[in-house]
Amino acid sequence: IKPPASILFIFGGSGDLNQRKLTPALYNLFIDNWMPEKFAVIGLGRTAYSDDKFRTHLLEGIQEFSRRKGEEKAWGDFSQHVQYLQMDAGDPEAYHTMTEVVKQYEAEWGVHATVIFYLAVAPQLVPDIATKLGGLKWCKDTQTVRIVVEKPFGHDLKSARELNNLLNNIFTEDQIYRIDHYLGKETVQNILALRFANALFEPIWNRNYIDHIQITAAETVGVEDRGGYYEQSGALRDMVQNHILQLLCMIAMEAPVSFDANEIRNKKTDVLNAIRPISREQVHEYAVRGQYNSGWMKGNKVKAYREEKNVDSKSPVETFAAAKFFIDNWRWQGVPIYVRTGKFMHQKTTIISIEFKQAPHYAFPQEAAETWRPNRLTISIQPEMDIRLRFQAKRPGQSMQLNPVDMIFSYKDAYDGHEPEAYETLLLDVMEGNATQFMRADQVEAGWKVVMPIIEAWEARPPVDFPNYAPDSWGPEDAEALIARDGHNWVSLP
Ligand code: BG6
Repeated sequence: IKPPASILFIFGGSGDLNQRKLTPALYNLFIDNWMPEKFAVIGLGRTAYSDDKFRTHLLEGIQEFSRRKGEEKAWGDFSQHVQYLQMDAGDPEAYHTMTEVVKQYEAEWGVHATVIFYLAVAPQLVPDIATKLGGLKWCKDTQTVRIVVEKPFGHDLKSARELNNLLNNIFTEDQIYRIDHYLGKETVQNILALRFANALFEPIWNRNYIDHIQITAAETVGVEDRGGYYEQSGALRDMVQNHILQLLCMIAMEAPVSFDANEIRNKKTDVLNAIRPISREQVHEYAVRGQYNSGWMKGNKVKAYREEKNVDSKSPVETFAAAKFFIDNWRWQGVPIYVRTGKFMHQKTTIISIEFKQAPHYAFPQEAAETWRPNRLTISIQPEMDIRLRFQAKRPGQSMQLNPVDMIFSYKDAYDGHEPEAYETLLLDVMEGNATQFMRADQVEAGWKVVMPIIEAWEARPPVDFPNYAPDSWGPEDAEALIARDGHNWVSLP
């Protein structure tokens, strides 16, 4: 079933996110026949564009960034639904124009439409835009009016709370869609299927069988042209508070009773609330920060972070973060969870690895022991999309030699390799009014609570050893030590 008639207002319509992600996603939904029968996409921005120029700008985005370059045949049809409205989001009068636009479409279509405000704007503009939207009476229609807010959602716990209070004073929680695009990724959604559609894993998914868990989100790019934003953020705020903690929730949550949005989100929030608070004094034992130096990245000379555009030459901002968490509940007591993320890492990879305990008794001859490895389930989120179950096998031959082998489920082999992008899934969810894969106010705040002690300890003690890792590496040595102290190694794909 297609979503109901929808009008999407995109604040920041002339910006990067719309050109690279939002419009390509909407266009792909259109090609796949998921867009509503009646819909309009209205880009809002201060740049002067005619409708035609705006459409050309968006088409260029599709030609450059869409996963389906070369499929522009339907663009002519799609672009008829797209228009541009030049407006200064700070001007209250401009909002009345939106009222007129909605009225016109509704009269033309003969239906009451769903109206979505997508705030693809700098975070400091969000409160003002939301407040001005609140001035439009029809925004109180909780059934059909929705607002989508991009990350970063706040700068710390305090500002996130303030933003939540502000939004919740204007809209009901059901109207607010806080995006974390990791939740829209196919491989991330599949974690729920893996865990809760199979009877196989659940009995061993706990402290009795799992030794520890690792989450790596490594990128081979630096901060690119986002130095200005990144200086206010750093790896912990940019990746851990949101994406990585959300992955952790998917892995660690209890089984939901239903797929109801609040049921799933309750179960995830329980995980965040159960993460053991790290005291500020202990932060050095539990977290490691790094910043990249200049060097070589896959044959290219790259600048140190401190030499990037809009970055302070003495910047204390981390481009790498690793941490160890514990979840204090019945299922996970005592199971360490190691996470790491960084820019200019050796390999682009986001993987979750579940390391199981050793078999309780080892009856094999001594020589077999040399190749002994524990069982491991690796979920590759991207760019490889697969799940590998590692177990011991007997190497063919006359002696009892064991070696680890992998049983692999690969998306590429099992399906046709045309998985939707996260923004396609999430935009469709917004039009359908399904908030399951979006962050609720309490989830965002609980995520901040987890990282705040680390942020505070790091801010109180500026780093003395930055830059402390070379591009094309796995980050600073201390990150190896963090996990090696417990007798483990970071897992990466071969
Ligand atoms: C964004 C961060 O949220 O996620 C970026 O702001 C990061 O710094 C990006 O590069 C990673 O997303 P993906 O989907 O490429 O893993």
